[in-house]
Amino acid sequence: MAYRWKNDLTDRDVTDEAVYLNRRQLLAGAAAGVGLAGIGSRATAAELEPTSWEDVTSYNNYYEFGTGKDDPAKYAHRLTVEPWSVQIDGLVDSPGSYAFEDIMAKMTVEERIYRFRCVEAWSMVVPWNGFELADLLEMAGVQSGAKYVAFETALRPDEMPGVARPVLDWPYVEGLRLDEAMHPLTIMATGIYGRDIPNQNGAPLRLVVPWKYGFKSIKSIVRITLTEDEPPTSWNKANPREYGFYSNVNPEVDHPRWSQASERVIGTGLFARRQDTLMFNGYADEVGALYAGMDLTKNF
Ligand code: MTE
Repeated sequence: MAYRWKNDLTDRDVTDEAVYLNRRQLLAGAAAGVGLAGIGSRATAAELEPTSWEDVTSYNNYYEFGTGKDDPAKYAHRLTVEPWSVQIDGLVDSPGSYAFEDIMAKMTVEERIYRFRCVEAWSMVVPWNGFELADLLEMAGVQSGAKYVAFETALRPDEMPGVARPVLDWPYVEGLRLDEAMHPLTIMATGIYGRDIPNQNGAPLRLVVPWKYGFKSIKSIVRITLTEDEPPTSWNKANPREYGFYSNVNPEVDHPRWSQASERVIGTGLFARRQDTLMFNGYADEVGALYAGMDLTKNF
């Protein structure tokens, strides 16, 4: 890949896997003496201490499994991720249903250590494993009329207890402008920390757009549609005043109910460290040009 993004993050910046996962089953596994093999050397006993974890943070947002922050970890194991296929359609040369294994056979998976900033003003640093979305879209053949990419999460009422409630208009949908989707920073993640991505994080493949608020990074994708018009997005439909289509991380544009100027750093203890939020989550050099001339207050 010719493109090299400025990776100023090192292994030292990575949110500890144990802290990042903080899944009840992981903790249960650790307590049972299994499941520790892949945990980094910085996984101290203190960091695995569930009380401080539970008190300080809320990590998983995957509303299909409930709105409680630990609901995804509790219930996402119910999601059947094998077999999996992704419907790619709309303005593409080769529309169809693509089996997950067939996609993986053609894609180049690499590690990307990215900042991850939730709209709720917390942040992490995550080592994703994934491939560039551009490669997948090129495989399907993007037609000249395509201007946007729409994404859809699986909707499985039998496996997803959260969809029984109309918290959002299910299925969860998201969208990007085509140039955002084709940007080399935009990946489809299939793993974290070198392992298959856990269900609660969006198995078997989810979007990661590191300069946008986390809710753009739609999980467990079953459909990708190339469109001419801007597609609807779940949070924008739910509350257009609070959640725009772009949702670029921007410390200068506050959420109507809270400041976006700083963020709570996950994994830094009970009284979590705060740090200043960076424009485009620190990726301004790479993606700023995509928004040249746009009023980011209006296009939030
Ligand atoms: N995708 C789906 N399908 N459903 C969701 O509720 N939550 C979003 C995003 N993708 C969400 C989703 C939000 S608000 C965030 S912050 C991230 O997933 C959380 O990703 P993580 O649990 O891997 O940290």
